[in-house]
Amino acid sequence: MKANTSQQKDLIAGIYHRIAGEYDERIPGFTALDATFSDTEISFVLDRVTADDEVLDIGCGTGRITIPVAHRAKAVTGFDLTEAMLEQAARKAAEANLDVRFEQGDMAALPFPDDSFDAVVSMLALMHVPPADHPRVFSEVRRVLRPGGRLIIGVKNSVFERFSSADRFATVDITDVENKELVFTGTREGDELRAPWHSFSPDDLKRLTAVAGLVPVSLRGNIPLSAWLADSVLETAEVAGAVRTLETLLGDLPPLNHLGYHLLMEAVKPAVHS
Ligand SMILES: C[S@@+](CC[C@H](N)C(=O)[O-])C[C@H]1O[C@@H](n2cnc3c(N)ncnc32)[C@H](O)[C@@H]1O
Repeated sequence: MKANTSQQKDLIAGIYHRIAGEYDERIPGFTALDATFSDTEISFVLDRVTADDEVLDIGCGTGRITIPVAHRAKAVTGFDLTEAMLEQAARKAAEANLDVRFEQGDMAALPFPDDSFDAVVSMLALMHVPPADHPRVFSEVRRVLRPGGRLIIGVKNSVFERFSSADRFATVDITDVENKELVFTGTREGDELRAPWHSFSPDDLKRLTAVAGLVPVSLRGNIPLSAWLADSVLETAEVAGAVRTLETLLGDLPPLNHLGYHLLMEAVKPAVHS
């Protein structure tokens, strides 16, 4: 029997509760490609956040993105389903002497007033939300954004998965494409944990943003070339360097922006015209 949305969320919160203490050792991973992937993701967000912004990070986890954003923005709120992940994030913010607000909850029902943020960020988190809730998440984001505010997200790309089931990022957490699950292998407890995982195509993002009334302004593929190359090809420094340069130059142009292992998107809530 298929789990309903609330059962799926309980399952996910239960898994992240168990993984919270080791999450930062697992993500971003251990290879040069993992580092490139993670750097691209963080730069995509930081390039779109200014010192005047009030930012909400939904599915903030242990603060991998929240903390760098807090160094740049005026105010940051980290929001997550899993208390244990928030505790890790809050500890890291305190250690860095950063004043970050943390709140627990479900991104499909955001407990914030209308028009309260300049940017909403979400990395590697929307993919755990059951598809039935996707439209609600996008409309909640639109509601809490100020006019002119930005949604900045990273999601797994279903176009890539159509051609390849290879895992190209943080190889301790394996994507089981066929069963639509993220598999946490080699956990400290020794168990293998499996969480539901849903991917998005560029068309899915276009549809979800259009329905919510958000306008996409940027779509970038994360590691759009190296995702397709064997590790052995990337072992040569010259090849890896050339691929990286091309990815940086061309990652936001079609067709490469559709071919990334993940998709990075910025969408804007239109300003109100009187
Ligand atoms: C892979 S972690 C990503 C954490 C962080 N954004 C990062 O990039 O490292 C996914 C996070 O999404 C959270 N999450 C999953 N479903 C959620 C929901 N419906 N509402 C809020 N957070 C959710 C999980 O608790 C977990 O902390």
